[in-house]
Amino acid sequence: MHILAIESSCDESAVALLKSTNGNSHILAQELFSQINEHQNFGGIVPEIAARAHLQILPQLIPRVLKNQPPPDAIAATCGPGLIGGLIIGATIARAIALARQKPFLAVNHLAAHALSPRLVNSDIKFPYLLLLVSGGHCQTLAVRAHNNFKLYGQTLDDAPGEALDKAARLLNLGWPGGANLETCAEQFQNHPQNHPQDHSQALNQLPIPLAKHTTLNFSFSGLKTALARHPDIKNASPTRKTTQALAFAFQERVMQSLALGAERALRRFQNEHQVQGPLLAAGGVAANTRLSQLLTNVAKQHNTHFQALPKELCTDNAAMVAHAAAERLHAEYKIFAPSNPIKGDGFHTPLRPRWPLTQSPATKGCVRVM
Ligand code: KG4
Ligand code: ZN
Repeated sequence: MHILAIESSCDESAVALLKSTNGNSHILAQELFSQINEHQNFGGIVPEIAARAHLQILPQLIPRVLKNQPPPDAIAATCGPGLIGGLIIGATIARAIALARQKPFLAVNHLAAHALSPRLVNSDIKFPYLLLLVSGGHCQTLAVRAHNNFKLYGQTLDDAPGEALDKAARLLNLGWPGGANLETCAEQFQNHPQNHPQDHSQALNQLPIPLAKHTTLNFSFSGLKTALARHPDIKNASPTRKTTQALAFAFQERVMQSLALGAERALRRFQNEHQVQGPLLAAGGVAANTRLSQLLTNVAKQHNTHFQALPKELCTDNAAMVAHAAAERLHAEYKIFAPSNPIKGDGFHTPLRPRWPLTQSPATKGCVRVM
C-alpha cells in the first residue's frame, strides 16, 4: 500500500510517499521546504505568511514526490492541531487529490504522527511505550498504548520547551528558530579548552531547574525564561561572547534537565501501570537535541530500559510521520486492506482543528470506513 501525505500545520511545507507492508513503513520519497527565511524578519511564525507559502510551495513539492513512483492508494494530511490557515491549505489540496484519484482521504492528528514516528523508524518498537513529546508548541509525557490510545501523564503549564529555547535564543541574539543555534552555542562553551568544570557549575548556578523541588508530572518553562530575561548580563548590557555561551549552556542544560526529570517521573508511573519497563522514546523538534538524548539515555538505564533517539530529520515536522500515522490506522483497523479492496475515507468530514488534544477523543479512530 502506498500513502501520499501532506504536512502543513506550522512553518514546514512537507510531502511524502510511504510504502507500508504489514505495518512496516518505508519512505519512498519526501520533500520538505522550511519557511524559516519567510518568517525570520518577524522573529516568529506569521500565520498568514505561512498559509500563503504553503499554497505556493506544496503544489511544487507534490509532483516531485510522485515522479517515477507507484500511484498512491490513499491520501493523508495533518488536520490539526496547528495554524488553521496552513491546515486548510494542506488538507484541501490532499482532499482534492483524493477526489480526483478516487482514493480514500485520512485526517491525521499532528501529535499522533509525532507520537507514532518511532515506529516508522523501527518497526520492532511495540506498544506500549513511554514518549516525551517536545516541540515548539507542545510538551507532554504519554503512554502510547496503540495507534489511537494515548494516556497523558504530564504536560506544560505554560510555555513549550521549543518556545522557551527560541525565546532564550532571541534574548541572546542567536537568531530564530533558536533551539539548534542555542545547542551549538552551548556546545562551544562546554567544549572550550579554557572552560573547566568549575566554569560549568558557575554558569549553571545562574539559573534554576524548573519544578525540581516539586513532585509534579507537569512542566513549566516561563519562570526560567524570565530568570534569563532578568539576568543582569542581559538586562543591563550586551553580553560578551563568553557570557552568551555560558548563558546558552546554562539555559539549555536547565531545560533538558527539567525534561529528563519529568520523563523519569512519568517512566516510573508508566512502569507501575504497565507490564513492561519501556522503552523510553522522544519525538518533536526538541528531541533533535543531543544533550536531551544523553540525559534520557541515563534515565532509561537507571530504570532498566533503553532510550532510542530518532534521526533529527524525523524529530522536526515532516510528512513521512503523517503518512506513517495513516498507515498505522489502515493496518490496525483494516488489516485486509489492499488496493483492490476499496475503502472510502470519511476524513472528508473531519473538521480542521487548531486544537486537537490526543486524549480528547480517540484522535485517529473512525476516520475511515469500509464501503
Ligand atoms: O516539532 P517542530 O519541528 O515543530 C512544532 O511542531 O513545533 O519543533 C520545532 C521546535 C523549535 O522550537 C526549535 O527551536 C526546536 O524544535 N528545535 C530544537 C533543536 N532543533 C529544533 N531544540 C533543541 N535542540 C535542537 N537541536
Ligand atoms: Zn510538530
